[in-house]
Amino acid sequence: MHILQTVAELRAARHPGQKIALVPTMGNLHAGHLSLVRMAREHGDLVVTSIFVNRLQFAPHEDFAQYPRTFERDCELLAGCGCDIVFAPSDAEVYPEPQGYTVHAPSELAGILEGAVRPAFFTGVCTVVVKLFNMVQPAAAVFGKKDYQQLLVIRSMVRQLALPIELVSAETVRNSDGLALSSRNGYLSGSQCTQAAQLHAALSTLATAVNSGRTDWQTLEQEALEFLSAAGWQPDYVAIRRRIDLGAPAAGTPSGSEPLVVLAAARLGSTRLIDNLEI
Ligand code: PAJ
Repeated sequence: MHILQTVAELRAARHPGQKIALVPTMGNLHAGHLSLVRMAREHGDLVVTSIFVNRLQFAPHEDFAQYPRTFERDCELLAGCGCDIVFAPSDAEVYPEPQGYTVHAPSELAGILEGAVRPAFFTGVCTVVVKLFNMVQPAAAVFGKKDYQQLLVIRSMVRQLALPIELVSAETVRNSDGLALSSRNGYLSGSQCTQAAQLHAALSTLATAVNSGRTDWQTLEQEALEFLSAAGWQPDYVAIRRRIDLGAPAAGTPSGSEPLVVLAAARLGSTRLIDNLEI
């Protein structure tokens, strides 16, 4: 496995005609990321994992400075799961000058849910993802459903900008009590870690209620918010949405008539976690 820092090195390492499958990450890798890397293997001849903590997608009050950076361990994990190249550009390689041109996703998709709470987030994500695509020139790129809205935003960006990239989505990897693996889980104390499984539990309860035929979406969302608040969380949102565009399903639409997803974001102490479940 090669560890490369610059686009020039990356271009030199690639043989003509080789199809690259890219897994963009911000590092601090866990089994969720590694499942994406294994999936990438099936979609290209050369698997590239990028590790770049993208300051553009963090608001000034967010955790850019604290975001866990564990580069050596990340490389060991990647070497063990079939990654060919780690692309770890410096800040100056990605942003050699202030990034004046940015990619704004439409507000119908990117101004809701995560975008409502973190207004500049998707602009930061889209801009760096387009940039990584141009730097790495992959034929395929793998993203996780863990960040469901991010996946939809990137999918629509790829489609609307006609980017010649196959987008592959991967299921969320969870620990044994249902907690979705996340780099931010490392911020949790021991007792918070146990409590954190309640987020998945709340979504599972909601999914079961929808599957059993309930269609009173707002009441269901409210119940889940109250459950989380009573359990000591500060929820940002719990939402039952259409999988296709994250729009709200029409009142009384029978479940099963269109594919739905339940999404939630909530803070436990100062740690903000997100999760979702397809119904
Ligand atoms: P990061 O949070 O490091 O996640 C990198 C990729 O791993 C994303 O596609 C994410 O959805 C996926 N992922 C995270 N946790 C997962 C889990 N438990 N199971 C399966 N996949 C999981 O998402 C980002 O970085 C950044 O926004 C990025 C796209 C790299 C742009 O900076």
